Amino acid sequence: MSGRFDGKVAIVTGGASGIGEATVRRFHAEGATVVVADIRPDAIDALAADLNGDRIIGHRIDMIDTAAIEAMIAAVTGRCGRLDILVNNAGIGSFGAVTDIDLAHWREVMAVDVEAVMWASRTAMPHLEATGGTIVNVASIAGIGGDYGFAAYNAAKAAVINLTRAMALDHAPRVRVNVVSPGLTRTPLATGLTDNPAIMAAWTDGLPLGRPAEPAEVAAAIAFLASDDASYINGHNLVVDGGGIAHTGMPNFTRILDGASHLDGAESLVKR
Ligand SMILES: NC(=O)c1ccc[n+]([C@@H]2O[C@H](COP(=O)([O-])OP(=O)(O)OC[C@H]3O[C@@H](n4cnc5c(N)ncnc54)[C@H](O)[C@@H]3O)[C@@H](O)[C@H]2O)c1
Repeated sequence: MSGRFDGKVAIVTGGASGIGEATVRRFHAEGATVVVADIRPDAIDALAADLNGDRIIGHRIDMIDTAAIEAMIAAVTGRCGRLDILVNNAGIGSFGAVTDIDLAHWREVMAVDVEAVMWASRTAMPHLEATGGTIVNVASIAGIGGDYGFAAYNAAKAAVINLTRAMALDHAPRVRVNVVSPGLTRTPLATGLTDNPAIMAAWTDGLPLGRPAEPAEVAAAIAFLASDDASYINGHNLVVDGGGIAHTGMPNFTRILDGASHLDGAESLVKR
């Protein structure tokens, strides 16, 4: 693989699992020194050991702690002398309508999924301006539309998408800021969905490629936006969902009208 990130320093929050881990592996394979910023030291150590500790810096952090974010970025820039890429990927899920969740839960989701993105970006910005660096945020298709029972998560991810746009304007031309919005991705966060046959059966029409994404497929999009291949892309929301939100939500009549050809089905459904 080419060294698109040779000599560069990247921080990946939530880098010890799922999409973050795949992003760490991708940056590392393409030459970067990568900081794995995560709340789980065991998972950080396992990943660092797997990559032989070479160009990998583990940093245990709870991203809701703003002072810890400042200390991390100071430590990284002090040790490495530069910062080129920040991937704000750490996130937590949430389930419940507004009548199901309390304020403490709402604030926790906002703290991890939104405030940490803002504070890490704010703290990293002078260093990214110095290197002509870039930020890639990780939102979700849940930030583009509403879902049943995902009120806090929908709100948080929509905030990340629009925060991305605002930062992309404010910090151009020195720093590009983009966001990736994955659809369902096979990670530990989503096993409650991907491992539930009833849920996956109901999801058929929302997964045109017939399966969830693999973390490496989302990491490839993050790496693209972080690379010079995306040098004129700024403020963009790159949806990586296999075509899921290409769907309006209308039922799949061609499947319901089983046995009829597409044209036969259309004849009975659409007045001309
Ligand atoms: N998996 C999906 O289907 C999916 C879909 C769309 C968006 N996303 C988003 O992708 C991102 C990564 O999710 P994932 O699916 O890889 O999940 P994951 O649970 O596999 O990984 C998330 C990582 O973030 C870390 N983390 C959580 N809270 C933290 C905190 N307070 N401080 C530091 N680290 C923390 C966890 O320890 C974990 O290693 C999240 O922002 C998530 O909302 C995931």
